Amino acid sequence: MRTDPLSFLTAELDTLKQQGLYRHLRILDGEQKATATIDHRQVVNLSSNNYLGLTTHPRLRERARDALDRLGAGSGSVRTIAGTMSVHIELEQRLAAFKQTEAVVVFQSGFAANAGTVAAVLSKDDVVVSDELNHASIIDGCRLSRAAIKVFPHKDVDAARRVLQELPAAQRKLLITDGVFSMDGDLGAVPGLCGLAEEFGCIMMVDDAHASGVFGRNGRGTIDHFAMHGRVDIQVGTLSKAIGALGGYVAGSRSLIEFLYHRARPFLFSTSHPPAVAAACIAALDVLEEEPQIIERLWENTRFFKAGLKALGFNTGLSESPITPVIAGEGALAMKLSDRLFAEGVFAQGIAFPTVARDKARVRTIVTATHTRDELQFALDVFAKVGRELGLR
Ligand SMILES: Cc1ncc(COP(=O)(O)O)c(C=O)c1O
Repeated sequence: MRTDPLSFLTAELDTLKQQGLYRHLRILDGEQKATATIDHRQVVNLSSNNYLGLTTHPRLRERARDALDRLGAGSGSVRTIAGTMSVHIELEQRLAAFKQTEAVVVFQSGFAANAGTVAAVLSKDDVVVSDELNHASIIDGCRLSRAAIKVFPHKDVDAARRVLQELPAAQRKLLITDGVFSMDGDLGAVPGLCGLAEEFGCIMMVDDAHASGVFGRNGRGTIDHFAMHGRVDIQVGTLSKAIGALGGYVAGSRSLIEFLYHRARPFLFSTSHPPAVAAACIAALDVLEEEPQIIERLWENTRFFKAGLKALGFNTGLSESPITPVIAGEGALAMKLSDRLFAEGVFAQGIAFPTVARDKARVRTIVTATHTRDELQFALDVFAKVGRELGLR
């Protein structure tokens, strides 16, 4: 009989089980909402990236349905062959106007936008100077580019300067940060790094996946929040989080975008969005522009919940956004916290190494505009009870 050549994977899974780090995929029955049915249990949902509740917004549903009826279920091709539909172009034009850049290209995901762009723009003689907590898609893009990778400590602009001072003036350099860090919820050092990029002639890139729809006027992101328009060469955003659908995009100069049409591998070698997805994203932009009060509700809920967790004595790190971690320390303890919260009716996913440092495992909470005060108060009460039980407060 043939021996299983993948048996080493089973051994790795057994190790995760022994360490208390093995996770089942939780299954959402029904819609992605503030209170949701997950694994057949009704819970207050603090784990989605659906910041504004747009996944189920009537305007998105209606536009998607209309596009489905008029244009069909799929695009049938990659963008560069037969898969560029007018709805894709309309979305890119709307995003460019929204982001105040010359042009935008949409990718299948934020991951593809980051990885595809860094890998296309840089090559092996270049260097990337990257915040240590940047998203995995940036790290993968850096590796794919074969450029040298220099990592600076989180948000440490002086350390980034020291790295840049050591590099040959003529070498091409990309300076890159997340706008909002997805695990800690703090803001990137965008203004300081923009200054450095100008001083050292770097390409400046910001991944605003968690900032789009959340920070800046009408949710234009951290570049708008920090008034850095014109100083960031490559802006990445996602359509999968606050925008409520799926996709990622790069905003920048017309030549950057045309270059990506020719060289970004996810754009060239993977089929474009179904028209209903692009249409839903256009409707989401309508909502951001016409119903900004939804963003204000997100921030009211954020302030209420963050203050509540702090008052209970949890370690919530340095968050400045609707993402608030509750740091437990060891991985198994964070997973236990998450499981106990779930059993009491609150879904806050546990996150451990390698996603975060080994001693900084946590549950990550994300409030949305659509949570009611009662739901958030219920979640705080459950945190109080379970936190006491586990000695975390
Ligand atoms: C900072 C950051 N960038 C990029 C992405 C990828 O976005 P998407 O889910 O659209 O692929 C994520 C999502 O996890 C993220 O947190």
